[in-house]
Amino acid sequence: MQTAAVKEATLPKPENSAPQTIADDRNIVRVGFDTRESAKSYDIVIGQGILEQAGERLAAVLPSKRICIVTDENVAGLYLVPLMKTLEAAGFKACPPIILPAGEATKNFEQLQSIIDKCLSYKLDRSATLAALGGGVVGDIAGFAAAMLMRGAGFAQIPTTLLAQVDSSVGGKTGINTKAGKNLVGAFYQPKIVLIDTGVLKTLPERELKAGYAEILKYALIDDPAFFDWLEENGASLLNGDADAQKYAIDKSCRAKAAIVAADADEKKDIRALLNLGHSFGHALEAIGGYDGRILHGEAVGIGCLLAFEYAQEHGPCPARDVERLRAHLQKTGLMTEPPFKVEAKEMFTRMQSDKKNRDGRIALVLVRGIGGAFVARDVDGADVLAFLEKTFG
Ligand code: NAD
Ligand code: GLY
Repeated sequence: MQTAAVKEATLPKPENSAPQTIADDRNIVRVGFDTRESAKSYDIVIGQGILEQAGERLAAVLPSKRICIVTDENVAGLYLVPLMKTLEAAGFKACPPIILPAGEATKNFEQLQSIIDKCLSYKLDRSATLAALGGGVVGDIAGFAAAMLMRGAGFAQIPTTLLAQVDSSVGGKTGINTKAGKNLVGAFYQPKIVLIDTGVLKTLPERELKAGYAEILKYALIDDPAFFDWLEENGASLLNGDADAQKYAIDKSCRAKAAIVAADADEKKDIRALLNLGHSFGHALEAIGGYDGRILHGEAVGIGCLLAFEYAQEHGPCPARDVERLRAHLQKTGLMTEPPFKVEAKEMFTRMQSDKKNRDGRIALVLVRGIGGAFVARDVDGADVLAFLEKTFG
């Protein structure tokens, strides 16, 4: 990597940071962003018990009372009935819910088509809303279906995993996976509202909580070393179910993401690309794993962040002590530091060559000067990456 061509973006500052102790039971973070046509915004409502208020909160922002819930089979068993009740109480005419198989393998063309076929059979018009109730898988595929239905039906996010609450429900990236790789087909399509009920995390399996934690950690690693200090102090209790710590970290993450989306909603300026820290390596690991559940997205991102730090130490400015601090934190919080299967360096390299950040056949990586110092490197030498992967994976 030659530093001269390294492109750096100045990161926008999030609006006022949340207090460490949260006295009120809900916060609202506004996401404002510009499109070619106009400036837009929507609210992320964060708090305990928000699911029970979903009907009235959706009614306040949606143009019609036609709604279709898209969820997965696990979440349906837990939260579909309470959601349908609140929608009914608020006067919504809900279609039969669309219940998808749980897991990453659902993000495919076949499931996308089945969602669209069902919506068309329900005769939903453009004023109707698809509401995603679930994790990032449901949010990504339902959002993409909403973007395509009638060239753009309404879309709302009700995220139920930590990962979806801190990342995927905010910012309008929607899509599916293909044989060629992760999220290679999709659309930028913003929701009209994001409703985050922190109470639903009580039923989330520990492994999924840890996967979501990796995306929280990512915000600290990008540009917020003080937040990394806070995570070193509080990360373990957050993962043990401390509701205040969870709410603080969700609020902090949503503010960080909202600020980045406001500055670069459609990822044209190498600002939003910073959110891809750990993802060039991580997406390649997920693809190698075949989306079969051996490695979750958040697990791959955690390992990917460590690989990005190691690469930046070897080929750039990252001090060894920051790599070790990150590794120690991943270990302390019980996150993966290496993939649970054998990786062939050449296959990993080939996968990384189809990353969406790359341009003109050149690999782009999000690298770091240290904890809190991420930048987009567009002059990465492919031979260096391959050599690094061969050294790492043998
Ligand atoms: P997921 O959607 O597969 O959910 C994980 C598991 O948790 C599933 O089995 C689900 O049924 C279950 N679950 C969900 N909520 C639950 C709850 N409250 N209690 C019990 N079980 C619950 O996985 P995820 O980690 O939420 O999302 C990963 C996906 O998000 C990946 O496809 C990734 O590419 C995508 N993603 C998108 C963005 C974006 O900006 N659009 C950002 C990050 C990740
Ligand atoms: N999760 C990456 C992004 O939203 O840009």
